[in-house]
Amino acid sequence: MTHPKIPFQATAPTTARRMFLKSTVATGAAVSVPYFGSTQSSFAAESKSKNAKMSIGVIGAGGMANGNINTAKEWLDVVAVADVDAKHREAFGAKFSGGKADLYEDYRAILDRDDIDIIHIATPDHWHTKPLIEAMLAGKDVYCEKPLTLTIDEGKKIREVQKKTGRIVQVGTQQRSTFNLFVKAMALVADGRLGRIQQVQAAIGSGPSSPEVPVAPIPKELNWDRWLGPTPKVPYRYLAQPGSQRAKTNCHFEFRWWYDYSGGKLTDWGAHHVDICNWALKLNGQTAGPLSISGSAKHPVEFQDGYPVQKDRYNTTTQLRFTVKYPGDTELIIRSDTRSGVLITGDKGRIFVSRGSLTGKPVEDLVSQPLPEDAISKVYKGLPMEFNERKAHWANFLHCVRERKEPISDVHSHMQMLNVCHLAGISARLGRDLQWDDTAEQIVGDDQANRFLSRPYREGYEIEM
Ligand SMILES: NC(=O)c1ccc[n+]([C@@H]2O[C@H](COP(=O)([O-])OP(=O)(O)OC[C@H]3O[C@@H](n4cnc5c(N)ncnc54)[C@H](O)[C@@H]3O)[C@@H](O)[C@H]2O)c1
Repeated sequence: MTHPKIPFQATAPTTARRMFLKSTVATGAAVSVPYFGSTQSSFAAESKSKNAKMSIGVIGAGGMANGNINTAKEWLDVVAVADVDAKHREAFGAKFSGGKADLYEDYRAILDRDDIDIIHIATPDHWHTKPLIEAMLAGKDVYCEKPLTLTIDEGKKIREVQKKTGRIVQVGTQQRSTFNLFVKAMALVADGRLGRIQQVQAAIGSGPSSPEVPVAPIPKELNWDRWLGPTPKVPYRYLAQPGSQRAKTNCHFEFRWWYDYSGGKLTDWGAHHVDICNWALKLNGQTAGPLSISGSAKHPVEFQDGYPVQKDRYNTTTQLRFTVKYPGDTELIIRSDTRSGVLITGDKGRIFVSRGSLTGKPVEDLVSQPLPEDAISKVYKGLPMEFNERKAHWANFLHCVRERKEPISDVHSHMQMLNVCHLAGISARLGRDLQWDDTAEQIVGDDQANRFLSRPYREGYEIEM
């Protein structure tokens, strides 16, 4: 397999880097200043050559795929699009390929093609693990949206297949490529500015509830049975919201708020902020896995034995607070009741980082004590950095495909932190605390809870490895 060279910016100008490293960047305003702005035009110009584009097949052409491909389109040739909604695949093909891409209802047609080496998966969460595993087995490299799994067992399967196939997989946790915010926060941690970490907090926001969402006719353009795929066969539901573009439904976008298709906020935003917490602990050498989880959550419906009693409305958590204990008196708090972001507290200092700001005394201290020149690069595993932060995560993936390297959002660390999100979900559903054996990847002494480590797949949608 050959991959066309993409001209990535290998290293950054030293003066620009120094300016960035010295800046306090304590406010959202500073964040909007691209710290390597002078290199962007040449990167964009070099990449305009059609020859430098890589052919990609897109599976799931909804909101996020539109955003992602729009971001990276200058490097990509969209040659195939699969979606179970004809309107979505047709609109996507027209927008990103001028109608040239082949359109499919069944994504397996893309995996069968020898002329496509890279795949983007942006289906709903219940449709990530199966096509990702099949894509790897078909010899494709994949940029797959978060969260990669619905269960801890699915994570084991993905790790196994990735090890066996050696395919390159980037998880769509793009916060790992925001140099001015999350990567810089990690550089502070890795440089010891916070000391030993005592607590990390992921504030992931509250989740919505809904009234009854009535059964509705299936839109003629939608193959509802394949949209459901591995999950139980249930009716399509839809409730228009006058004055709002977004209806209440158990389908497009709103699947996030139903446990059949998602883990709710715990995996939707947990996949981003718990990931940063986990990254910080690991960079600080605090690598041991979790021991236990305690806390509580509110659901918008009644639960019995871990399952919602009412089937006709949103059922994932609305409010939550969990404490995950790690060896050495370290804890991770996942909460919904405060400003979205990550608070990292060490015995020498504390920082808060979100999508809009990076603040705290260790950040202010950068004026007098800048980080070493290679601090950001080290955290970014020495990989080239594309300094348009909107595009950086895709640039990282494409570079790693070309060079056969592990991307910045790797499968292994994603699974470590997603296990924690899934455990919190099990604890929320059962309404009790859990002890965890991280080596065996089992809940200790709780058979009922252990049954939530996997889910049955609907007949015809099993995962074959
Ligand atoms: N990284 C981020 O910040 C971020 C932001 C938003 C969404 N996401 C993730 O992206 C994924 C998609 O979310 P979205 O908001 O775009 O949802 P969406 O409902 O808008 O899009 C999903 C698309 O997948 C299609 N689909 C469903 N089953 C399919 C199948 N078997 N084969 C092909 N297509 C299928 C649907 O018809 C729909 O067009 C989710 O996993 C979500 O967590 C990530």
